[in-house]
Formats: sequence, structure tokens, C-alpha cells
Amino acid sequence: MKKINTLLSLLFLLQTALIHTTSAQVYSPSPATEQRVNALLAKMTLEEKIGQLTLYTTDWGSTGPTIREGYKNDIRSGACGNLFNSHTVAFVRDLQKVAVEETRLKIPLLFGFDVIHGYKTIFPIPLGEAASWDLPAIEKSARIAATEAAAAGLNWTYAPMVDISREPRWGRVMEGAGEDTWLGSRIAEARVQGFQGRKIGDTDAMLACVKHFAGYGAPMAGRDYNTVDISERYFREFYLPPYEAAVKAGAASVMTSFNDYDGVPASGNRYLLTDILRTEWGFKGFVVTDYTSMNEMVNHGVVANDKEAGELSLNAGVDMDMQGAVFQRFLAQSVQEGKVKVADIDEAVRRILRLKFDLGLFEDPYKFCNESREKTTLLSKEHRAAAREVSRKSIVLLKNDKNLLPLNPGQKIAVIGPLADNKAELIGNWNGAGNPNDCVSVLEGIRAQAKGAVTFDSGCEFFAAKKEGTENALALAKQADAVIVVVGEQAMMSGEAASRADITLPAVQEELVLELVRTGKPVVVVLMNGRPLAIPRLAENATAILETWWLGTEAGNAIADVLFGAYNPSGKLPMTFPRSVGQVPVFYNEKSTGRPYDPNSKWTSKYIDMPNAPLFPFGFGLSYTNFSYSEPKVDKSVFKKGQNLQVTVNVANTGSRAGEEVVQLYIRDLVGSVTRPVRELKGFEKIMLKPGETKEVRFTISDKDLSFYRRDMTFGSEPGEFEIMIGTNSMDVKKVKVRMTE
Ligand code: NOJ
Repeated sequence: MKKINTLLSLLFLLQTALIHTTSAQVYSPSPATEQRVNALLAKMTLEEKIGQLTLYTTDWGSTGPTIREGYKNDIRSGACGNLFNSHTVAFVRDLQKVAVEETRLKIPLLFGFDVIHGYKTIFPIPLGEAASWDLPAIEKSARIAATEAAAAGLNWTYAPMVDISREPRWGRVMEGAGEDTWLGSRIAEARVQGFQGRKIGDTDAMLACVKHFAGYGAPMAGRDYNTVDISERYFREFYLPPYEAAVKAGAASVMTSFNDYDGVPASGNRYLLTDILRTEWGFKGFVVTDYTSMNEMVNHGVVANDKEAGELSLNAGVDMDMQGAVFQRFLAQSVQEGKVKVADIDEAVRRILRLKFDLGLFEDPYKFCNESREKTTLLSKEHRAAAREVSRKSIVLLKNDKNLLPLNPGQKIAVIGPLADNKAELIGNWNGAGNPNDCVSVLEGIRAQAKGAVTFDSGCEFFAAKKEGTENALALAKQADAVIVVVGEQAMMSGEAASRADITLPAVQEELVLELVRTGKPVVVVLMNGRPLAIPRLAENATAILETWWLGTEAGNAIADVLFGAYNPSGKLPMTFPRSVGQVPVFYNEKSTGRPYDPNSKWTSKYIDMPNAPLFPFGFGLSYTNFSYSEPKVDKSVFKKGQNLQVTVNVANTGSRAGEEVVQLYIRDLVGSVTRPVRELKGFEKIMLKPGETKEVRFTISDKDLSFYRRDMTFGSEPGEFEIMIGTNSMDVKKVKVRMTE
């Protein structure tokens, strides 16, 4: 088993080294494409142009792929130039045929889909993958997703979602990289590069679509689609950078968000879509609205009707209307009335046609429709092996009293819980073409690796009041050496339109865990969930806790790898776990305030009924070994503005197992022209250490790392004192002070 695992890891490392081939740069079309685009544009009627700006969904449902006849007629007449939710070679080929054989200009369709964490082989939910802090692994996951999807007819994914969020109530945190801007930016780059591969047009790559632009992760009260109101300073500093990073990594398209920003809905917000995105960042791809968000501007109350919504959107910088049929119904009339310029429509059409040319669809509209590739690529052995590797890297060990884990496989184990023998939930939300039947359940994973007796009882249902089964579960627990209880949310409790006001574990499940604890047996809680949960009672009472998110197809194997020690857990939380929903928003890079927390002084910024500290902080995660950190050393304690600073730290594995550690670098600007966070992540490195081994980790801190939006909103650094902090999580660091001079 050990050998197989080492081999698996080596193979994975080799593959990840090979896939990283693109160098990040803003997408820009080739001059040759430009001529072809203009020649085609010259032949198009206004209606055909508007068709290219129109995107409709098929009605893919439980009965299989279908499309409304009306949409098919729209394709035929050139009124619909793009489709989504249409995949599999057979279905896509049929629809593409209509476009290239039955329309006047034979312009091929784009085929989009939410390929978020895998197409057929399902990888961990993005929040889970972010917990790996392993950029090559994350890039590889997106690479494999693209390889599979592009073999099933698709050429455009609605990912990555890069919305930073400090809101565990918001269900969509499962789709992002968590709360941190710096980590989120690096992950955004990795995902864009993974989806788009070596180059747009390769048959194993698809267009990325950065979403949701912008600020969607900060809805008031954590309620999906709700108002966003953040200062420009916060917006630029914490929320915008991951979108910019994704654009600068070459993302070909951007999706708007449902929310308003500074009173203007994103789908009609020229400041966002033109001033920032195109003028400041140089974005040259196309912008698509999120599903009917154009029409929803009527509800927002900034336009009186759909026609005005279309005008506001197009003039703001939107190129494509997703599912709203606003452009299709009204744009020609808006042109006649002089509300919209044909030149602006032409530019939007160009942006879309360029990518159709770059994808190579005019040469071969069926290049992503190859039956034999579809058969051999999807759910291949290599893809499953990679999913298992990424999955185990995404698991976070939250507690491990008395070194209960890893378990001895020879022990008698009782496996309990509504998620233990469950496959349906494992693929999580936004699960592409994933099939639960392809998943390895936790029980199966455990049975495959255990050498002693394994018993099972679900113990309770997800939500139901306590039922008979509990007695049997308790009896099994009493006969076992150790109990593994698998509990959590259902997959649909996070994702879009799945905000929760209460972020605890469903009561019946928590009670089950506590009853198991009362048997006196050691209890390992395996959690599955799409958001940080408030679980203070579990944290206090369980012997060990593993956060496993939704790991996808290989979930059971990956969890068993960690439970029995074939893999030493290395994940770190990408989002703070609160003690109670009342602490939300609670995040690591807060500001000091004028009255920083002091447990002994009433008149400081705090609660009277619980500490300020979260249950588990950002960056937290244990290992089966121990790491010790030296004091960080700087190459100069006084340095000139503009100079780089080198910081080094020695990290030693003082335990008896090999393991990976995420060494985290934080900074604090002690005095600024505006208030600064008490700590901000500015770097990390994931290293592997053998028992007894010490490695020096070196970070370079640039002027940009010390920069921020100053009082006058210019971006730059300010001379003065800084703290440089290095440690194993955001709250456990060693510091060194440095001074920047003019
Ligand atoms: C709405 C979601 O907000 C967006 O993320 C998704 O890509 C579209 N629907 C298309 O499914």
C-alpha cells in the first residue's frame, strides 16, 4: 500500500510538472484573426450581429438533453449564436450542425457549461481544493476538467469563480477559494491556466470565464443575490485583485454578477465593465451577463423595462446576454431610436467572433466533438488517480487528540452517520456531468483499507428527529475500538440560492455524535460541507475531526488514505470557522480598531458572551507530524522604499512521519495613512519534510507586497515600520520587525 501511494504521488508530481506550460498574460487575439473577423462582420445583418450576442440554455433535465424548438429555430435564423447546458458529443454535434449547415453565414456556436470542479471525474469543490494550498494540484484539476469537457463537445466553462467571501452564510462560498485575496488570486491564475491549457484552440482546452464580476461574495447578511455595499477602498483592496489576476492570466471571458455595486447593478455598471476591466486591466475578451441579470435590473429599480436594461448593459460594456432575450427582443429597436450605436454592437460581435476563430471553430466546428476521445478520456484511470491525490490534499485535520489518527487498520471500526454509505452527496453542488454511482463512498473506502472488522449503521437521517437506528449505531460503537462518524450538510445546502442563517450541523446529527462520544470510545468526526460550520460542541467533544468538504468521485478512497495514514494530511483552512454565526463576518485580516480586543477590559471591541477568536482560524490545519519554526530572519532590518526584502525561516519536522507543511508569510504595516489589517497573507510555500529534516524557506517581499490604497487612493507603499510574520496558520506566527526608509 505504502509503495503504491508513493508511486501515485510521484506520478502526480511528474504530471503536474508537465502540465504547467502557459505563461500568464492578458488574452489578446492575433492580427490574422482580426482580418477574418472584420471580413465576416461586413457581411452580417444587424439581426445576425445581435444573434452572436445571444446565449440560450438547452433544457437538459433528468430525462436527458432537449432544446426548445423555438431556440432551434433561433439558431437556424442566426438569432442565437451560443448555447449552454448542452454537452456530450452526440447532442452538441446535432446543434452545431444546424448552425453550420442551416444558417446563412454558417457561424459555429459556442457551447458553455458550468464545469466547476470536474466534468465527469469530479474533483473536490473549489473551496475544498483551495484548502490544499497546492497550486499545481489545483491547476491540474482544472486541466483535467477541461480535457474531459472538451472531449464532450464543450469549449467554454463558467469558471473560475473568484469571488472573495467573508460570509459563511452565503452558499456560494463552496465555489470560490475562500476569504483571502492573495491566496484567491494565485488560485484564480492556476485555474485559468488549467482550463485554457497551452493555448486556446487546443482540443484539450476551453475558454475560461471569470465570475462574478464583481463583489458578488459580499452580499449583505450573507443572503444570495443581496445588495453589496463596500467602500471603494475595501473593494479594490480585498475583492478586486483575484478578478484582475484571472484576467492577467489570460481568461478569455468574464461574467457579470447579480448584485449592485455602489448602487449600480453589475450588469449595467460601466465603471466595472469598461473603466476597470477594459481600461485599467486591458481585458480584450468578451463579457457575458449572468443568467437574466440584465432583465433583473428592472427589479433592482435602475431601469423601467427590459429594453432600457439592454441599453444600459450594452453601453456599460456587456457583450453577450445570457438567457434574458433582451438583446434579441429590443436591441435593434434601441439602435433605431439612437440609444445604442451600431459601432458598439460591432465591437461586441468582434469580441465574440475573435474567440470563435481562435478556438478554430471555423476550420472545424466539430473539433470538440470526437466520440472516441469522449470514450477514452472521461473518467479515465489517470483522471481518477489524480482526483484521489487532489482530494486527499484538500482534507484538513482540525483536531487529533492523543494522536488518535491515523487509525491502526487492524482495529475494529464502527462506521456511523448519514453520509458514511452515501454516494449521492459526494459530488457536491455544480457537479458537471458527474454521476454519484461512479463515486467511492466513505464506507467503501474504509472497507478497502481496513484489516479488522468494519460495522456500519447510518445512525440518523440528515434532518429527521432521532430514530430507532441510533440504538444500533450506539451498540456497534460500544463493540468497536474506534468510531468514525460521517456527518454534515447535504450538497444542495450550499451553492447558488443556498444561503443559511444557521450554519451549525443539523441538530439530529450533532446529537448523534455527542451520543457516540458518551460511549467513551474514541470518535473521529468526518465532516462534509460546503461552507465553514459553527461546530463548537464537536470541537470540544470529538477526539478527532477531519474536514473533507465534498471531495468528488474519489472521496472515499482519499478519506481512507488519511484515516489510515497512507497520506499525512496537509490541508489548511482557506476560510475562518466561526464559533457561532453571531461572529460573522469573522476573518483573519481584520483591522486593529481603536480599542483592540482585550479579554480583561470591558471597553474594547468584543462580545460579552464569547471570545473574538474563531473556532479555527484561517490557515489552520494539523498534521500527523510536528513542525517547528525558527525565528524568521531578514536580510536587512532597514531597507529603502522600492527594495526587495528577503526573509528566511527554518522549518523542521520534529515528529516521526514525513509530511507536508504550508509555511505562511504575513505582513503588517504598523502605521499607515489609513488603517491597515493586523495581518495579511503575502506568500506561502508548501514543503515536504522527512522526519528529522529541516528546510530553509525563503520569501521575497516586494514593494508591491507592502503597497495599498493610500489616503489619496493611489496604490503604493509608505515608509515606516512593518512586522513580518511567518507561521503555521494566521494566528500562530513568529515575528520580525523591519523599517522602510524613503
Ligand atoms: C447562474 C450562476 O450565478 C452562474 O454562476 C452560472 O454560471 C450561470 N447561472 C449558468 O449556469
